[in-house]
Amino acid sequence: MKAILLLVFAFPFLGAAGERCPGVPSLPVEAACRKACGTKLMHDMCMDTLRGGFHPSPSIHIEVTEYALLAAHHALESYGATAAAASELLRNRSLAGDERAAYNTCLTEYSYAVQCMDHVAGDMLPRCRFAGLGEQYVHCVAYVEGCRDRLVWLKSSPLYTMNLVDRNKALLAYSIAQLLGSI
Ligand SMILES: *[C@@H]1O[C@H](CO)[C@@H](O)[C@H](O)[C@H]1NC(C)=O
Repeated sequence: MKAILLLVFAFPFLGAAGERCPGVPSLPVEAACRKACGTKLMHDMCMDTLRGGFHPSPSIHIEVTEYALLAAHHALESYGATAAAASELLRNRSLAGDERAAYNTCLTEYSYAVQCMDHVAGDMLPRCRFAGLGEQYVHCVAYVEGCRDRLVWLKSSPLYTMNLVDRNKALLAYSIAQLLGSI
């Protein structure tokens, strides 16, 4: 009894996880990551992400909508941090012209990327609106790549690694969403 109570308090998502969207499968964390991810990098990232919100026991099946929501929120937070870092870099008055131009492009692309992923995490997934969801993820990834395409011309940039991580997080969110079945 004590163990069960502990579980409920340690993993608040568990208690809330009833049926969210009709027809969506439920899986344990490990099975979801195995199904969604083709590479070790993605699989590890998936396990880290989902274990942060859900108990990874093989006997606990959770609707994959919950996983998709968590992954989308993770991507969104990460985008926000990168956009803030770009703003911070732009405060430096000694930036070279190409650096300034690249960071300005990144700020613009990230404002679209944030809107894009916010639509996924705040509207489409919670309302079970899966029509066009796949294309939506593709757009979100494309904005992040729009920033990268400018960064690669710089000799080095602190934003580069953050941008790569953002891209992986968006791809992970997309891969997990493919388990919803209808996108
Ligand atoms: C400002 O930008 C220049 C040019 O990229 C760089 O050399 C310098 O380290 C930056 N200064 C700070 C405080 O980040």
